Amino acid sequence: MKIKKAEYLCSNIDPKLCPKPVYPEYAFIGRSNVGKSSLINLLVNTHLAKTSKTPGKTQLINHFLIDDNWFLVDLPGYGWAKVSKQHKQRWTNMIKKYLLERENLQCVFVLIDSRIPAQRVDLEYFQWLGLLKIPFVIVFTKIDKQSKSKTLILIDNYVKTMLKTWEKVPEYFLSSTRTEAGKKELLEFIHRINEQCNEKGK
Ligand code: GTP
Ligand code: MG
Repeated sequence: MKIKKAEYLCSNIDPKLCPKPVYPEYAFIGRSNVGKSSLINLLVNTHLAKTSKTPGKTQLINHFLIDDNWFLVDLPGYGWAKVSKQHKQRWTNMIKKYLLERENLQCVFVLIDSRIPAQRVDLEYFQWLGLLKIPFVIVFTKIDKQSKSKTLILIDNYVKTMLKTWEKVPEYFLSSTRTEAGKKELLEFIHRINEQCNEKGK
């Protein structure tokens, strides 16, 4: 799938103020600085989402309309140590409320830095998404930053950790905004779900 049109729509604190849920929607979550906004920009071939070297750049629920028939959503990161407890709680509540209430949400992409071993906060998010039966896949990001063998070891450890509590591990992707790894696969994955949504809507 090639994206022809991508536009920024709005940024909100309250999920209730988000655009009408009329199209299939895909949201990106993950620890601050993992590369959510960068990956969205890679997928849409333009600098739509704001990125930064400093964690905590994305602070709101940001909606982008793609090809006039699906939404991409950039969310604030979690687990960033440098913001106050109160601030963290506010973001967590906002993200969870959004995930719970967004009826057109088709899949959540949980991003994991391919260099950082399983963190409790990520595993808790997996658990939480699973409990609420929100479909999700994992994207291991920044694979250009280390050797392939190191990435594969990390993924292997992730799989082993997850299999302690999960029957099976969700589908996962590897990505790099530098080499564009994963771009085609992620777009194909979204395209497949969009097609299913169109079929259901007929
Ligand atoms: P918050 O909005 O703060 O939660 O961060 P984010 O997850 O949106 O991360 P962002 O996309 O802003 O990227 C953080 C930093 O990582 C930036 O300096 C990016 O250039 C860098 N980055 C993101 N993806 C990659 C990647 O695949 N490879 C490399 N080398 N750097 C990346
Ligand atoms: Mg961001």
